[in-house]
Amino acid sequence: MRKILFASSEVHSLIKTGGLADVSASLPMALRQHDQDVRIIMPAYRQCIERLTDTQTVAIIKLDGIHEPVEILQSTLPDSDVMLWLVHSPFHFDRDGGPYSQPQGGDWEDNAARFSVFSRVIAAVAINQADLNWRPDILHCNDWQTGLAPALIAEHPHRPAIIFTIHNLAYQGLYSRDVFEALNLPEKLWNSEGLEFYGLMSFMKGGLIYADHITTVSPSYAEEICSYEFGYGLEGLLSYRAQQGQLTGILNGIDHNEWNSETDPYISKTYSIKTIRNKAVNKLAVQRYFSLPEKEEMLLMGVVSRLVSQKGIDLALDAVTHLLELGANIQLVCLGSGEPAFEQDLRVLRARFPDKVGVDIGYNEPLAHQIEAGVDVFLMPSRFEPCGLNQLYSLRYGTLPIVRNTGGLADTVVDAIEENRTNNSATGFKFELSTPEALEETLYRVMDLFKRPRIWRKMMVTAMEQDYSWENSAASYLQLYDDLLD
Ligand code: ADP
Ligand code: GLC
Repeated sequence: MRKILFASSEVHSLIKTGGLADVSASLPMALRQHDQDVRIIMPAYRQCIERLTDTQTVAIIKLDGIHEPVEILQSTLPDSDVMLWLVHSPFHFDRDGGPYSQPQGGDWEDNAARFSVFSRVIAAVAINQADLNWRPDILHCNDWQTGLAPALIAEHPHRPAIIFTIHNLAYQGLYSRDVFEALNLPEKLWNSEGLEFYGLMSFMKGGLIYADHITTVSPSYAEEICSYEFGYGLEGLLSYRAQQGQLTGILNGIDHNEWNSETDPYISKTYSIKTIRNKAVNKLAVQRYFSLPEKEEMLLMGVVSRLVSQKGIDLALDAVTHLLELGANIQLVCLGSGEPAFEQDLRVLRARFPDKVGVDIGYNEPLAHQIEAGVDVFLMPSRFEPCGLNQLYSLRYGTLPIVRNTGGLADTVVDAIEENRTNNSATGFKFELSTPEALEETLYRVMDLFKRPRIWRKMMVTAMEQDYSWENSAASYLQLYDDLLD
């Protein structure tokens, strides 16, 4: 049994902004299933403390330069037996708003301080200096919010092996030299082979330089980030680590209990491959929810997304608008929140085509499930996508994903070209270029095939037969842990 400290800034069902939270719950749970001693460490945000009623203080840590001592609260991840340690620094984490942003939007101004405190506590726990009497074999860090921890313990003689997983290279935690100075970090970390990145301080680089091994969440994204286009200036470092065999892509899994069309409590009617006809009940329910004409024969497309440029929302808007202007018989429903301009564009589209478009701005978990179950196709035209979970949820719900051929989308969706349809491997639709035209062309292919119910039905079944549970991916992480411990 290995002892694994799993560090993440968001964990479903306690706090979530995106797929990182899903993975930070479902991977530790899968590791528990493999009998590992895995413990999650995360910030004690107000929402988490409110949800967990049984926490107890198990350690108190004094950090240099931080006035109040930081407590570690212990609990268990809801609906699991995974131990949870919450870093309780009320000044930093006990407030309204999101994990990274203020209630009215915009990042917290003290994010660097907040996540350096988080990282310093992770580091203390990792080298058993937090009075918890537990020394992990593995420290598994995730994304920039945990990036300083590897840097802080890299030279410690009794440190665990360190893995750093990149979920999204676009968010790096970049701050000025002044901020670095205010954080009470060792000055020696300020160099180009350390945290310094073109005159700025990079939290992400702490992970990329000092971890023993870097993973990212799909094999294709692992290759892409070594290129100029996707590397954000870190491609040299990442290529070097890849050449050393220290950067690999392990595809995310999904939680088959949470996302299961046969048992989903949020949807109108559960269904399996055998009772796939029942999916139509969910389609009518989604149309009703969005006040659209309830027509089973109408192609219904869905989006559930953070509304940011990464997700290609503008491509979807342009392509769909053009098709609707031409009078296409399609409907689109969209659930999301994010950049105000995208939210506004969606509302405008809804106003222009009220019987074709439904929009819900916000975060709504039950509705996300209902859309996955109800729509015919799921639109995910991302410019880049480290893994993507929604297309995996779609596959499992017999909802065919329409994706750009990038990152995890490329690795998980098989395009409905004739050859793949003939050998029964097709599960969705793919296109190459990040342009509305390329997406629009694909949507014509989708509309054509939708008129051929037998082929469509076969693709739905093939999609539902795919297995993207954690089984394989958790085994890959375990193998990696073993390799590092050797
Ligand atoms: P990312 O992490 O880049 O946002 P993923 O596809 O990996 O993309 O994961 C997104 C997760 O967030 C999914 O679980 C998805 O259902 C959820 N999600 C995104 N937007 C919303 C929303 N507005 N309401 C509910 N769930 C959402
Ligand atoms: C990030 C990525 C997404 C990935 C998720 C979980 O948010 O944008 O592609 O699925 O992390 O790894």
